[in-house]
Amino acid sequence: MPLTRKAYRAAILHSLADPAEVGIEASYEYFEDGLLVIENGRISALGHAGDLLPRLPADIDITHYQDALITPGLIDTHIHLPQTGMVGAYGEQLLDWLNTYTFPCESQFADTAHAEEVADIFIKELLRNGTTTALVFGSVHPQSVNAFFEAAEKLDLRMIAGKVMMDRNAPDYLTDTAESSYQQSKALIERWHGKGRLHYAVTPRFAPTSTPEQLALAGQLLGEYPDLYMQTHISENKQEIEWVKALFPERDGYLDVYDHYKLLGERSVFAHGVHLCDEECARLAETGSAVAFCPTSNLFLGSGLFNLPMAEKHKLNVGLGTDVGGGTSFSLLQTLNEAYKVMQLQGARLSPFKSLYLATLGGARALRLEDRIGTLQPGTDADFIVLDYNATPLLSYRLKQANNIAETLFVLMTLGDDRTVLQTYAAGNRVHQR
Ligand code: GUN
Ligand code: ZN
Repeated sequence: MPLTRKAYRAAILHSLADPAEVGIEASYEYFEDGLLVIENGRISALGHAGDLLPRLPADIDITHYQDALITPGLIDTHIHLPQTGMVGAYGEQLLDWLNTYTFPCESQFADTAHAEEVADIFIKELLRNGTTTALVFGSVHPQSVNAFFEAAEKLDLRMIAGKVMMDRNAPDYLTDTAESSYQQSKALIERWHGKGRLHYAVTPRFAPTSTPEQLALAGQLLGEYPDLYMQTHISENKQEIEWVKALFPERDGYLDVYDHYKLLGERSVFAHGVHLCDEECARLAETGSAVAFCPTSNLFLGSGLFNLPMAEKHKLNVGLGTDVGGGTSFSLLQTLNEAYKVMQLQGARLSPFKSLYLATLGGARALRLEDRIGTLQPGTDADFIVLDYNATPLLSYRLKQANNIAETLFVLMTLGDDRTVLQTYAAGNRVHQR
């Protein structure tokens, strides 16, 4: 294959580490006039334009952006593809919301044509919002995951997804059985896990909708293939937690149910965790598990305020999740806007650099993909976005008053949304142009 080399010149920013561990100044790298060089889908150099330009061949193709910021592609560690058509459903909290809106909406994915149509809309929406990697719930139907992976493969995206396993406490039209969920998951793993940049996640919906037999088979699958992911929900809503205690009286709380069935581990991501206690955070951290912080959803469904400082105290890996359709936006910028307010309500601060970390490198670490995505380090995948300082009249005017990159970043996360994302690149290819 001929060498394809391209360079992008703009302000460039990426995370180097968690500000909670190294302090804010050491947590990021910023080039006011930076250059990002891409070769064959990977980043080959990053630095000051003045340093790098003299070392590049004179005929290299350089795209120069004015009033724009290049950052790594954003990482959504929790989202539901089959809930694309029900964002913003009125009035209910988690359990009634599932029964009233979610299950009927997900039932439509029995139809392959519908699954393909929505997979296409969903992926376009991710890319329009600058999200280049997501950990995705399908529906209970394998075709929802096939449709998603087929569309992601065409664009060479790094994506993770799985078919929901759900064999009780849901309508008959939407349940599998322990055995069929095992066989269907296995077939999807064989077809997709490790193909190109795709990975599979074993996906028991949450403890109340799985029998002990199904949870045991989910744990068994994790032992049968290397590097599989596991995704589920935990401790999102107080009624939900009481229900889990009633369904599993022999277990020592919600997390212990998953622990018992061997679902904790380095590639396990638990969504929400709003009401986790200290001991549960410690156990999650000890097993290398991660939590997806989903602020728009936690507010929209009235679930509660995620305690990020407690997670930091335990050095628990935390990524950011939109949780569409419980969440109300595909935009991780808007999700950070809400995350900031969730911290304000708890008397805590969320610095813009911690926010950047959560949406990029923190997500990559939660997914154990930090050697591939989440930063702009040479050698990693060329998944990056271009944010436009002039996306809206207000943003343009407001950013002219910003004195430094910290202020600029914070305003981008407060006023920014899909309009702010000028371009999205995946594996060096432009996959979205506003
Ligand atoms: N818990 C179980 N299923 C779901 C879901 O689809 N969305 C959310 N937010 N929580 C859940
Ligand atoms: Zn969810």
